[in-house]
Amino acid sequence: MELVDQFLRKINYLRISVTDRCDLRCVYCMKENMNFLPKNEILTLEEIERLCDNFIDLGVEKIRLTGGEPLVRKDIIKLIEKLNYKKNSTNLNEITLTTNGTLLKTYSYNLKQNGVDRINVSLDTIDEDKYNQITRFGKINNVLDGINEAKKNNIKIKINTVVFKNFNESELEKLIEWSNLNDLDLTFIEVMPMDETDTPRDLQFVPLNEIYDKLNIIYNFTKTNYKTGGPAKYFKSDKLKIKVGFITPLTNNFCESCNRVRISSTGKLYMCLGQNEYVDFREIMRSDRNDNFIQDKIRFALSLKPKRHDFIINSEIKPYMKRHMNVTGG
Ligand code: 5AD
Ligand code: SF4
Repeated sequence: MELVDQFLRKINYLRISVTDRCDLRCVYCMKENMNFLPKNEILTLEEIERLCDNFIDLGVEKIRLTGGEPLVRKDIIKLIEKLNYKKNSTNLNEITLTTNGTLLKTYSYNLKQNGVDRINVSLDTIDEDKYNQITRFGKINNVLDGINEAKKNNIKIKINTVVFKNFNESELEKLIEWSNLNDLDLTFIEVMPMDETDTPRDLQFVPLNEIYDKLNIIYNFTKTNYKTGGPAKYFKSDKLKIKVGFITPLTNNFCESCNRVRISSTGKLYMCLGQNEYVDFREIMRSDRNDNFIQDKIRFALSLKPKRHDFIINSEIKPYMKRHMNVTGG
């Protein structure tokens, strides 16, 4: 079975947020005082599994768990264990997650045991004070210890770094060297105009083509065909053993090759990170509908998947997306 949208894009990748909560409060992601959702609004493990089953039936091959921070959900390993069983008997072939890394020290072993071979860790700086500042109270050693533990367990790590004006722009070379030393691939990401945080988006945004040009003077990049199924373009350099990726939702639209949809922790299916439309599956599941009904609804939702996101960052245009990043986890 294949899921194809109205623009003939094959959708084989599902990202599912398992919680809106997080143990950090990154200033570009959340407001200082966030109201998190009551538990009964969040999908149960059974509901998440049921949605995954239906998507797998329809052709999804890769599932990424996101948050908030996916590892703060108590029963997360149980969910991963259940999904991992499906890998042998269905077309599902990868389970991965995007994490802030703070809990990897505790969970790396269990993740690897349950078939997670590759994860993304979000890290915007390797400076202890800056890390503390951008996460509002985080301790970088938790992440660094977590990364080491994941490496010990043979989990391959990619670092994701969002580039911010006047914050980490001057540190990117250092981040590349650190990643190279630790054998971690690294991807830079442009700030996206999700719901407002305490600083206006136009004061955060740095176009990555400028960053590329600066770094290219040092590294003399060559483009690779390397693909991880995502929008990043990867580059190699004679000076590096790692690949460096750039994700440019604003300066270079990549929607043509989009292969994914996202489910929020409350069961809303978002067809695009950069659009506000969704289809609510929680109410469908809680009103005793059967799986055929769910699959029809998934196909219907896919027919609404827009051609491209409408991200714009401009001080005149507000509000941006009507949700924060912790709703869908990027
Ligand atoms: N733009 C780009 N990335 C963001 N993230 C959170 N908010 C934004 C934003 N507005 C990133 C985090 C993490 C991932 C889950 O999403 O840094 O890497
Ligand atoms: Fe948590 Fe990630 Fe948001 Fe930071 S960016 S507050 S780590 S969900």
